[in-house]
Amino acid sequence: MRLSILLPFAGPALAVSCKNHTLWLCGDSTMAPGGGHNHTEGWGQYLQYSLDPHIRVNNSAYAGRSARTFTREGRFQAIFDKLTPGDWVVIQFGHNDGGIPATDTKYRVDCPGMGTETCPVTYDNQTEIVQTYVTYLKNASSTFLSKGARVLITSPTPTNPFESGTYSFNPTVYAYYSWYIAQSLGGPAAGIYYVSHGAYAAQAVRLLGQASADANYPMDNTHLSPYYADVFARAFVLGLKCGTAPVQGYVVNATSRIEGDVLGTCLPANATLPI
Ligand SMILES: *[C@@H]1O[C@H](CO)[C@@H](O)[C@H](O)[C@H]1NC(C)=O
Ligand SMILES: *[C@@H]1O[C@H](CO)[C@@H](O)[C@H](O)[C@H]1NC(C)=O
Ligand SMILES: *[C@@H]1O[C@H](CO)[C@@H](O)[C@H](O)[C@H]1NC(C)=O
Ligand SMILES: *[C@@H]1O[C@H](CO)[C@@H](O)[C@H](O)[C@H]1NC(C)=O
Ligand SMILES: *[C@@H]1O[C@H](CO)[C@@H](O)[C@H](O)[C@H]1NC(C)=O
Ligand SMILES: *[C@@H]1O[C@H](CO)[C@@H](O)[C@H](O)[C@H]1NC(C)=O
Ligand SMILES: *[C@@H]1O[C@H](CO)[C@@H](O)[C@H](O)[C@H]1NC(C)=O
Repeated sequence: MRLSILLPFAGPALAVSCKNHTLWLCGDSTMAPGGGHNHTEGWGQYLQYSLDPHIRVNNSAYAGRSARTFTREGRFQAIFDKLTPGDWVVIQFGHNDGGIPATDTKYRVDCPGMGTETCPVTYDNQTEIVQTYVTYLKNASSTFLSKGARVLITSPTPTNPFESGTYSFNPTVYAYYSWYIAQSLGGPAAGIYYVSHGAYAAQAVRLLGQASADANYPMDNTHLSPYYADVFARAFVLGLKCGTAPVQGYVVNATSRIEGDVLGTCLPANATLPI
C-alpha cells in the first residue's frame, strides 16, 4: 500500500486513518434490518449511505430487544468479541424497556430506576437478577471503551409526535438516562458521547407535517416506513455533525447540505451535555 500518496480530494477519514473500522449498531426494531417486519424498516439500514466506505456499518440491532435482553442473549458480547480499537458502537434502546419485571410476560423490561436497583424474577426456571437500563448500558459501554472502541449513547426514536392530532414531542426518560450514562462514564474525554437522536428525528417529523407522519408510521405509532427509516438515519447524521464525536469525520455530507427543509438545523445543546 502506498500510504504516502494522498489524493488531493481525499476525504478527511482517508487522511486521518488508513485502517478501516466498523460502526456497530445495537438497538431494537426501530433500528434493525427489517424493522418490526410488515414492510417497516430500521433506520440503521440507511446509515452507510452517509458514511465514507472506510467505516462499515454492522447493524446488529434486533427487533423486540431491550437493554436487558440484548445483554442476556449475548448480543453485546458478540460485538465485544469482534470489535477492534478505533471502532465505534451506537447504543439505542427504550421502546421495549419500560414496565415492571415481575408482571412482564415477555421477560424483557428493565428494573425501574437509574442506579443499582435490582428486580429478581424467575425466567427459564432460573432466577434472573434484572438490572436497570443504566446498569446494563454502563456495563456494555465500559467493556467497549476498555477495548479501545468509542461509544455513542443515543435517545430512542420518537413515537409519532402527531399521534394526538397536533405535534407534541417530549423526550422519554430513556433520553435522560442515555445522557446520564454518557456523562457518568466520563463523556467525550473518555470516548463516550450522547446523541439526541430522538429530538433530531422529531424535528424532521415536525417539518414534514402530520400527513407525512401518519403515512410513514404505517403499522403503529412506533415502527417506520423505509422512507422514515432513511429520514431518521439522516437526522442521526445531522446530530453527529452538530456534536463533537470524531466519527463525524466519516460523514460524506457537508452540514450545510444536510440542514434544510426536511431535517431542520442543529439543536441548541445544553453546555453540560456530553455531545
Ligand atoms: C478499506 O475500505 C476501502 C473502501 O471501502 C476498500 O477499498 C479497502 O479494500 C478496505 N481495506 C481493507 C484492508 O479492508
Ligand atoms: C455483524 O456482527 C454480528 C455480530 O458479530 C455478526 O454475527 C454478523 O455476521 C455481522 N454482520 C455482517 C453483515 O457482517
Ligand atoms: C456485563 O456485560 C457482559 C458482556 O456483555 C455480560 O456478560 C454481563 O452479564 C453484563 N453484566 C450486567 C450486570 O449487565
Ligand atoms: C420449568 O420447569 C417445569 C417444571 O419442572 C417444566 O415443566 C418446564 O418445562 C420448565 N420450563 C423450562 C423453560 O425449562
Ligand atoms: C401491518 O400493517 C398494516 C398496515 O399497513 C396493518 O393494517 C396491519 O395490522 C399490520 N399488521 C401487523 C401484524 O401489525
Ligand atoms: C449524504 O449523501 C449521500 C450520497 O448522496 C446520500 O445518500 C445521503 O442520504 C446523504 N446524507 C445526508 C445526511 O444528507
Ligand atoms: C443541562 O442538562 C442537564 C441534564 O438534563 C440538566 O441537569 C441541567 O440542569 C441542564 N442545564 C441547563 C443550564 O439547562
